Amino acid sequence: MHPIAIAPSVLSADFAHLADEARAVADAGADFLHVDVMDGRFVPNLTLGPPVVAALKRVTSLPLDCHLMIVEPDHLLADFANAGTRWLSVHIEACPHLHRTVQRIRDLGMSPGVALNPHTAFATLEPILPELDFVLIMSVNPGFGGQTFLPAVLDKVRSIEAWRRQHRPELRIQIDGGITVDTIGQARQAGVDWFVAGSAVFGRPDRRAAIDDLRAAAQGPA
Ligand code: DX5
Ligand code: ZN
Repeated sequence: MHPIAIAPSVLSADFAHLADEARAVADAGADFLHVDVMDGRFVPNLTLGPPVVAALKRVTSLPLDCHLMIVEPDHLLADFANAGTRWLSVHIEACPHLHRTVQRIRDLGMSPGVALNPHTAFATLEPILPELDFVLIMSVNPGFGGQTFLPAVLDKVRSIEAWRRQHRPELRIQIDGGITVDTIGQARQAGVDWFVAGSAVFGRPDRRAAIDDLRAAAQGPA
């Protein structure tokens, strides 16, 4: 496993004060900023796009981790690169030419990741794993913050952890959805390195305490 990273999801931030929210979590010790991009088709919600990512880039030095919940996102990849995205994940269920998409992300200078919905099996991911810098395991059905963690996805995390030990130790495993002080420990034990947390960070007025508590719970017993 790799060191723990906490990535607050701006989906749960106050969109009217995004700059302040980004600064608050940077000051509170966040490792990067998770940006949920939704198209109203792949998921039943709409959020934001490259102009807002570019605006965030101007006000924070935190690396931007953009999670695209978009059907066939290829035509937007360059815009996300130009906006200053560091880590970019696309959904396996949304990309008919996944290998090409992943190569394009890397060619554009970003680090590619692939996200899997809770019901999507590990076997579908395996052929693309050698090309990735990270995998994003969804632990809720994507679309909204504040949902309940689905522990069944941890079997998939264990499969990826076993695969990387053999083939690609540098691969990072990220989890997203329902991460709280009560769920983060079991995810860490299964092999997760990077933890996205929306409501568990932005839902508490003391952002430093929120991030510190998550980090401590990740390290402690499940
Ligand atoms: C859900 C998003 C998540 C969401 C997580 O589709 O991908 O990043 O913001 O929110 P919490 O941590 O509240 O479950
Ligand atoms: Zn996300």
